[in-house]
Amino acid sequence: MKIFIDSADLDEIKQAYAWGVADGVTTNPSLLKMAVEKRVAKGKKLDLKTYIMQILETAGGTPVSLEVTKTTASTMITQGKKLFKLFNPVAGNVYIKIPVNPAFKAKDKSHFDGIAAIRELARCGIPTNCTLIFTPEQALLAAKAGAGFVSPFAGRIDDDLRGSANLKFDKTAYFPEDGMEIDGEVLHDNGIVSGIDLVAQCVELLQGYGLDTEVLAASLRNTRQVREAALVGADIATLPIGVIADMLTHHKTSEGMEKFTADIVPEYEALT
Ligand code: G3P
Repeated sequence: MKIFIDSADLDEIKQAYAWGVADGVTTNPSLLKMAVEKRVAKGKKLDLKTYIMQILETAGGTPVSLEVTKTTASTMITQGKKLFKLFNPVAGNVYIKIPVNPAFKAKDKSHFDGIAAIRELARCGIPTNCTLIFTPEQALLAAKAGAGFVSPFAGRIDDDLRGSANLKFDKTAYFPEDGMEIDGEVLHDNGIVSGIDLVAQCVELLQGYGLDTEVLAASLRNTRQVREAALVGADIATLPIGVIADMLTHHKTSEGMEKFTADIVPEYEALT
């Protein structure tokens, strides 16, 4: 499974690439807002165009998703093409991130505008990452439209399931892959029992039909979720830097290190 860093913070992105574990970057408007505000709070000037170019260079040819902010097919297509033209020449690694359904309300007429935008961008050879996927059927339509990646938001499904049962919870706390039973009933959202179940169903559906769209598990908040995303066959997991760092920690590893270090004999040290 490839690992992307889910961040628009250049320092974090540089760190993940320096560790040698990053295969790509995903950004979104909320992550970009956080990164911009962090820099401004530190009194640093920000030229956003140069800043994004630095992210693209840091990623060194691996995919970087840049999200559109418009919400109709024609405006998303125009913005997507402009973003691609402006930034893809830097390192040839831009994916345009398009919401699967940009409508805010049921009565809005724009439900298929994301799919239409993906189709048109694909026709122009512009790769896309279809975001805000909460059902396997959304993933299927995005894949049929020609999305390069589909991004199921695992953690937000878990939030929604816990919220539907009025549970108080910490967003980073593990939610069981097989679902949570409350009063004898397994919580579900139209048959989806957990965020990882959503990822698994997207993988099964796209692989089952031989679609070459990759499943990019997003909104992962803890290491066990990452492991489960890998085990159900996600092609990619996009992770905040803290989750990447947590993947290497175990108290027995630390304890073992302390003991081995305490046991070093000087004769062995002297050999090197
Ligand atoms: O890549 C999507 C991700 O940034 C959303 O994560 O934790 O805000 O649900 P989260």
